[in-house]
Amino acid sequence: MDAPCNEIVLESSTYLEEDTNGSVESDDTRIVEVKNCHKTYLHGIEGVAALRGVNLSVKRGEFVMLYGTSGGGKSTLLNLIGTIDRPTKGTIKICETLISDRTPDSELAELRLKRLGFVFQTFNLISQLTAIENVELPLTLQGELAVAERRARCRQLLKSVGMEERMYHLPSQLSGGEQQRVTIARALVNWPDILLLDEPTGDLDTKNTELVMRMLVDLNKRYGITMIMVTHDIHLRNYADRIVHLRDGKVRRMN
Ligand SMILES: Nc1ncnc2c1ncn2[C@@H]1O[C@H](COP(=O)(O)OP(=O)(O)OP(=O)(O)O)[C@@H](O)[C@H]1O
Ligand SMILES: [Mg+2]
Repeated sequence: MDAPCNEIVLESSTYLEEDTNGSVESDDTRIVEVKNCHKTYLHGIEGVAALRGVNLSVKRGEFVMLYGTSGGGKSTLLNLIGTIDRPTKGTIKICETLISDRTPDSELAELRLKRLGFVFQTFNLISQLTAIENVELPLTLQGELAVAERRARCRQLLKSVGMEERMYHLPSQLSGGEQQRVTIARALVNWPDILLLDEPTGDLDTKNTELVMRMLVDLNKRYGITMIMVTHDIHLRNYADRIVHLRDGKVRRMN
């Protein structure tokens, strides 16, 4: 760990102190509660049991890493927590909101917008937009902030991830590590409570992996953003507070 960590300075430091109702939450609040969750995908006439009775609680401010065999259900679990998908059976509580197969789409969309940020292995930046335009896009679509306010927030976020000098570059003009830092800035643009990361360093070299991990730990420690990250890289385990192993759709081990 020789590279200095980027200084993360965010304007909105309401993390940990307030929820959207303004009430104070204690550090040990369970921000994610997965109870007896099953997910079966229909594949033709067959069902593929991706999750088979998963229980998992995550405290606010925790950094949890999910490891496990390929096909073990890691991405499926992350998608359920991210409300991208719904459980076939069981319940999930995210920031006090109970999610079941009957939760309306509008409620899930609200949760995704206000509480959750996503980072995937592939950077998923829009190639025709500059770094700052990519970060700004969720705010533009939301249409709540004035242009100057949006720009100021995005500029600050890009500065926080060490990308200020390249904010007018297109994705094709950035390295993989730089693109991933832009996607992290984009994931933070709505000040989420939870960042869900699916193999975010999968396409990065060792140096950029370390840079991104140190940034994530800094965000986690400084602002209490809860991190749930899927990875296959055993060298990253020391960055986490807790490790969860998934195999064949079940939690096999926690440490
Ligand atoms: N949309 C889908 N339709 C059918 N089966 C699916 C679908 N998505 C995932 N699966 C199956 O569910 C199981 C769990 O998949 P999942 O993507 O969660 O695994 P994973 O642990 O993330 O694996 P990897 O480490 O390879 O990314 C696998 O058997 C997979 O083939
Ligand atoms: Mg996966």
